[in-house]
Amino acid sequence: MKGIILAGGLGTRLFPLTKVTNKHLLPVYDKPMIYYPIQTLVNAGITDVLLVTGGNSAGDFLRLIGNGKELKLKHIEYTYQEGEGGIAQALSLAEEFADNGKICIILGDNIIEKNINRAVENFKKQAKGAKIILKEVSDPERFGVPVLDEDRIIAVEEKPEVPKSKFAVIGIYMFDNTVFDIIRTLKPSERGELEITDVNNAYIKRGDMTYEILDGWWTDAGTFDSLRIATNLVAETGANKV
Ligand code: DAU
Repeated sequence: MKGIILAGGLGTRLFPLTKVTNKHLLPVYDKPMIYYPIQTLVNAGITDVLLVTGGNSAGDFLRLIGNGKELKLKHIEYTYQEGEGGIAQALSLAEEFADNGKICIILGDNIIEKNINRAVENFKKQAKGAKIILKEVSDPERFGVPVLDEDRIIAVEEKPEVPKSKFAVIGIYMFDNTVFDIIRTLKPSERGELEITDVNNAYIKRGDMTYEILDGWWTDAGTFDSLRIATNLVAETGANKV
């Protein structure tokens, strides 16, 4: 399975840290933020990846990651998202790279304590559809939140004022090759973006969505608070344990 790392967007919530550089190049404890999602994929055996970036300092990713060998990647490609059209729009740039196969997507600001190996192995055996990963959090209203009927997901709501569960949909998604047809049907949301939550809802409507609960901590790092929390978690316990 191939991997796609989404590291576009303008990082406006971290301004002025992101005034001249890209959010995913900022430090999280002792490494640049982008190293963590790369390590998550490599630990799951996904070593053929596309990095989608955008905004400032795009060339610095090439200087930092190069051909990926130091980070144990077998192959890395790069592309550039113009503007900030949303996660699903960034993903649409990966259609040729995906080459009709299954893909695992990770957001460039998502960091985990452990690994996604079991979820990836299970998705390889899944005949079709998609898989998302959930984590119980204290502030679900900041994220995509699953609506559960017993242990079945019946919808995902993006940043609901009143969350219907305590879980967040973390920024790691596994899709079959129909994802690009789904993205072509999407309309921009109120925040002007093609939403990954709408992609997930399309799979849920088809009855093609499975999920797993993540073991260990998870955080994003796209706000001052979450960047500080990410730095502390990495310093205190380490990340990407296999
Ligand atoms: O972190 C998980 C959450 O990520 C999910 O629970 C939400 O459902 C999902 O919408 C997303 O929420 P955010 O609003 O926090 O995402 P944000 O705009 O911060 O973007 C997260 C990453 O996605 C960012 O680090 C890079 C990538 N991205 C984002 C946008 C808007 C792109 O590559 N291109 C984009 O245009």
